[in-house]
Amino acid sequence: MALRNIVNDGDPILKKKCRPVEKFDRKLHILLDDMAETMHHANGVGLAAPQVGMLRRVAVIDISKEQNDIIELVNPKIIAFSGEQEGNEGCLSFPGQWGIVKRPDYVKVKAQDRFGEEIIVEGKELLARALCHEIDHLNGVVFKQVAERMLTRKEIEKM
Ligand code: CO
Repeated sequence: MALRNIVNDGDPILKKKCRPVEKFDRKLHILLDDMAETMHHANGVGLAAPQVGMLRRVAVIDISKEQNDIIELVNPKIIAFSGEQEGNEGCLSFPGQWGIVKRPDYVKVKAQDRFGEEIIVEGKELLARALCHEIDHLNGVVFKQVAERMLTRKEIEKM
């Protein structure tokens, strides 16, 4: 496994739509492994492929404190959602920036695993937020575009 560079705010790749994965090969497995390592190393709860420069519909999420509960998503799609939550949201590509973002409180996602098998992932609260955030990335949408507003420096200091 290897750490990959995380692209930052302003990189045009973050605004591009990703292509579906068609080959569930070793290259995909290495990408998934590297993305999980990169996310954990940066203490993030999610990372999408465009953030490491790959325009592919691939994301990893791990909301556990122990960093041992990785969810791998290939070609994910939200198939149901309900409720609403409003809260602070950040992104590894926007270090030090936080916004208030409204998200569904529950989402159900259909995706494929690293071998191409269909999986269903359901999430509430933080997991629902992370699923929405990462799937947005695959469509070229970053949290700043959907935020109600960004937090001020003072608000961030109090977090
Ligand atoms: Co992000």
